[in-house]
Amino acid sequence: MDKINKKENNKNIKKFYELDHQERLQYLKKEAHITEQDSEILQDFPKNFAFKKIDNMIENAIGFVPIPLGIATNFVINGRKYLIPMAIEEPSVIAAASKAAKIASIKGGFLAEADNSIMIGQIQLVSRDKRNNKDKFSNKKERDKIKKIILNNKEKLLEISNSKSRSVHAIDLQLREMSDESNNKMGYMIIIELIIDTRDAMGANVINTMCELVGSELEKITKCTVILKILSNYSTKRMARCKAIFPKELIGGSNGVNRILYAYAFAYSDIYRAVTHNKGLMNGIDGVAMATGQDVRAIEAAVHAYASNDGKYRSLTKWYRSKEGDLVGEIEIPLAIGIVGGISSVHPYVKVALKILNIKKAKELALIMVAVGLAQNFAAIRALADEGIQKGHMRLHARNIAITAGATDEQINIVASRLVQENNVTVNKAEEIIELMKIDTK
Ligand code: MEV
Repeated sequence: MDKINKKENNKNIKKFYELDHQERLQYLKKEAHITEQDSEILQDFPKNFAFKKIDNMIENAIGFVPIPLGIATNFVINGRKYLIPMAIEEPSVIAAASKAAKIASIKGGFLAEADNSIMIGQIQLVSRDKRNNKDKFSNKKERDKIKKIILNNKEKLLEISNSKSRSVHAIDLQLREMSDESNNKMGYMIIIELIIDTRDAMGANVINTMCELVGSELEKITKCTVILKILSNYSTKRMARCKAIFPKELIGGSNGVNRILYAYAFAYSDIYRAVTHNKGLMNGIDGVAMATGQDVRAIEAAVHAYASNDGKYRSLTKWYRSKEGDLVGEIEIPLAIGIVGGISSVHPYVKVALKILNIKKAKELALIMVAVGLAQNFAAIRALADEGIQKGHMRLHARNIAITAGATDEQINIVASRLVQENNVTVNKAEEIIELMKIDTK
């Protein structure tokens, strides 16, 4: 009887996803002890971005985590000037990119190019003997037979994959085979790869749909088993590259160039440095990605895998001295990004960011992102190889500290410079300065 009552009661308890916004906040008050003030923060929505909108974007939505949106200036890419929106919470990043872009602009700015938007969709085909649970594909003849069936049906499979989308097209179907390298030794698999041109879209959704369509047909024609049907985020057919020259006169002459080349030598040769070096350039790329509504996790995954392209994790940029003695930087990375589909048509901030960029093609966004990455990396290794980054960083950080300590709008700059001058950027010191300023003005 008790059990039945419990069941009845449970039936009346709504699941978190069934609660409306107010109910979710009430729940958090009760279960996670958030205060009324916390709850108000979670109800502070931008005018044109109501709760309903985010509740449609993700599950169990409760609010926003706003990230500052800024503009990187001075960028000249393939002869065109750009104002580049970046969404990032870290101080110094936008200033550093803008300064690097200014130095690069002296020798013509950034020269960038990007491949067509070619992505790979993967379908994993396996085959086991039901009677003894043995892998049938361990037999090469069996694999060859199935591969032949697939290739004989290539046109039909491509047709099926292209039956749902007008703009995104599978242009080829290729086969690979591999065996399980894990300890489970599951045996062989045939991987069917759809080569797909996603044009101006990142393409994840449509690629996955195509893979699922083709997957069902593959099971029919091969009588084997399809396991995974999913895009590959390792978008190496969709590379973007960029080059820029930084005149030696502006970076400490030949010695300055040497110091930067040493910084590069370190990042090229040591994974512990390379990860930080690459993190720095991703500050820029992720900033633009966040502002323009890209799948940042996908970009990160691909880029860092590519950093190990030759078997060792290395710097994603390349730095060398030109014949004239200037510093030359290059970057080449996989970049799967889009300006149509995804959140680009529903997210009001993303729409504004894309408008500021004034671009028509996803490729153009890729050019911008690699240029920002290269600029960001230059700025970081230049500062690191010179006075270090803390001085500049502290100047910006000092403003935040001054605000935290309660400086008024008029006081912020004065307090921040005193903190830097005294080399003591702490809230305590800032409070002390503000108190002294109060006495001074009495
Ligand atoms: C900080 O966000 C990024 C740097 O650490 C990058 C680097 O070390 O090259 C400054």
